[in-house]
Amino acid sequence: MEILETAAALQTLTETWRREGRRIGFVPTMGALHEGHLQLVRTAAAENDVVVVSIFVNPTQFNNADDFKFYPRTLESDAALLQGTGATVIFAPSVEQMYPRTSVVRFDFGPLERVMEGAKRPGHFNGVATVVSKLFHLSRPHQAYFGQKDWQQVAVVQQLLADLSFDLKLVSCPTIREEDGLAMSSRNRRLRPEARAVAPRLYEALQLTAAALREGLSPGEAQQKGAEWLQQFPDIELEYLEVADAQTLQPAWAGPSAEQPLVICLAAWLGGVRLIDNVLVDGE
Ligand code: PAF
Repeated sequence: MEILETAAALQTLTETWRREGRRIGFVPTMGALHEGHLQLVRTAAAENDVVVVSIFVNPTQFNNADDFKFYPRTLESDAALLQGTGATVIFAPSVEQMYPRTSVVRFDFGPLERVMEGAKRPGHFNGVATVVSKLFHLSRPHQAYFGQKDWQQVAVVQQLLADLSFDLKLVSCPTIREEDGLAMSSRNRRLRPEARAVAPRLYEALQLTAAALREGLSPGEAQQKGAEWLQQFPDIELEYLEVADAQTLQPAWAGPSAEQPLVICLAAWLGGVRLIDNVLVDGE
């Protein structure tokens, strides 16, 4: 599998593919690949003729210098993991390739980014939208694959596609979990053993909150129940646990229904590592 490092090389390749009438699948990643990413690539390979996987730790979406510095960079083992998944080419550019000059265009996703990740990580979605737009232009995909673990990111990218008339379909795929329920994440490998041991409690808190909603507690009460339950684990520092409308991401005031599914999202720090997770409650 070829590794391309320049924007020009990827553009030339994808232009040729487009002319040949091949359907292009695209999986954007920041590397440190895990089974969740590999599933996205397998799905992309099953639904397209060729698949581009980008591996780029995007500086503009980090609002914490240490998080960017310590983000795992493992290109060699990532390339090995991608063997046999159906990936056609890896795009692994330098920062200079992606940002030949400082970008000045700013994205503002309004209410979608005034909550949760957008509120806690100012500028994060501007960085995501900037790099995703660039990657879409370079890889010219028919379909792009994103994981639902980043629920808010999926909502923001959907908005981006609509606002800028990108001619591609976003395919969002379910979160892949470890056997103990912990959502797979590149950041998991930075967890120390004591933090890793307690990390599955995050998913348990989400499930407990979901059960409370299904039992008829109001979103506020269910939210409080989940957050209070997590307080018994001193190694977990909860940043937020919110029950929101699954589409608009605004705080929910009524319980879930078929017409208005809810999403419960959380972010928490475990020994210096920030993890996020969510579950959908569809009212069924
Ligand atoms: O989800 C991620 O890994 C990143 O936000 C993405 C989409 C690759 C953009 O850098």
